Amino acid sequence: MRITTMGTMVTHLIALVVLGIFTCACGHATFPWTMEHFIKVVEQVETSNPGQGALGLVRVLRSFGGLEDAFVQHFLGPLKDESPILAPEASDFLQAVIGHRVTGKGEEEGVVLTADGTTVALTPLLLGIEAGLLAAGGSDQALSGLYPLTLAKALGLSFLQPHSSPLHTEILGPDGCWDSMTSPRIFALSAPAGGAGLDSAPRLISPWRRGNFRELANTSLLQGWVVESLALYRKLIGDPGLAEGAESETAIKEGVKEFVRRYMECPTIIPRCQWGAKPYRGTPTQLTLPLSFLYVHHTYEPGQPCLSFQQCAANMRSMQRFHQEDRGWDDIGYSFVAGSDGYIYEGRGWHWQGAHTLGHNSRGYGVSFIGDYTATLPSQRSLELVRDRLAACAVGGGG
Ligand SMILES: *[C@@H]1O[C@H](CO)[C@@H](O)[C@H](O)[C@H]1NC(C)=O
Repeated sequence: MRITTMGTMVTHLIALVVLGIFTCACGHATFPWTMEHFIKVVEQVETSNPGQGALGLVRVLRSFGGLEDAFVQHFLGPLKDESPILAPEASDFLQAVIGHRVTGKGEEEGVVLTADGTTVALTPLLLGIEAGLLAAGGSDQALSGLYPLTLAKALGLSFLQPHSSPLHTEILGPDGCWDSMTSPRIFALSAPAGGAGLDSAPRLISPWRRGNFRELANTSLLQGWVVESLALYRKLIGDPGLAEGAESETAIKEGVKEFVRRYMECPTIIPRCQWGAKPYRGTPTQLTLPLSFLYVHHTYEPGQPCLSFQQCAANMRSMQRFHQEDRGWDDIGYSFVAGSDGYIYEGRGWHWQGAHTLGHNSRGYGVSFIGDYTATLPSQRSLELVRDRLAACAVGGGG
């Protein structure tokens, strides 16, 4: 029984910690805020403090991040007086990079960039791993903290923020981009396996995190976790200024609904700033929504499917260059483009008319698969991404 529970739990955990709910960007630190750099520093912590074991190590990291309020302690217990040894620059980096918060300037701190172009928040990652390790050692209290610590409390608090907060226009966290996209080495967890593409890749990789999460949660479960976490939060920490009663119930209901739509129903869409788009030329024509059609194309050129964020982003830039400079269009023609890396790339997006299907551009979105598919099909995963996820996302969002 325990073993079965653990297997599921670990799967849940991995799916959760890579969920990366808040995509944003920021970071004017001297160190690159990349997952790769974070892992290097974790290795330093491990080498300078030998014999810790996995649990000891995450607790040391938690102490650097100052993650020990009553809510965290309720599930994970207090930190002992750990005095880890670490080079000051590594310790500064950890302090800066672990604590999750959104600044008054609308910048999100406590997130790092992964090699697949998406963003991961470290606080839920660390708390989730610690809860998982404790649960593996038999702690039911820690097991019950998995969702509250990694997701539900943060989600609930963001729903109940006073409306005056600068963040409130985007209660689920702003979309955003990093100030600079370095090209770190491929991170194994994120990369599709070998040349065979995503269909033969393992399940627990970053591009599947939404699909994995859909297998764990649904609207009613999420709502329950959020309500319970907020009740515990009010009891342990207090709730100055949070919405209450009926107002809180409505906010939670609407918040969860929007969360499910955006982060479970929709695919991850890599925004223009992330792939390095040039600005639109001229004045875009606004689409009149909802549209009745979704036109599906293949790019033909480039003819090869792109299997990594770096490759897909480069393809996007070269198509935009071709459409703007050789064709003389205002922008890349497609509304969206499907990579074979598990992601959709934003072209003209939901609101601006594209140039993809002559005579029909005002009636539908144009979506193109990168690659030449005259003789073969795109991977099953890419097909699902467009057919099941992007289409549902368009309908659910009024497009
Ligand atoms: C949500 O998931 C739970 C647990 O798997 C299940 O019992 C419940 O019926 C689901 N609810 C909906 C609305 O799908």
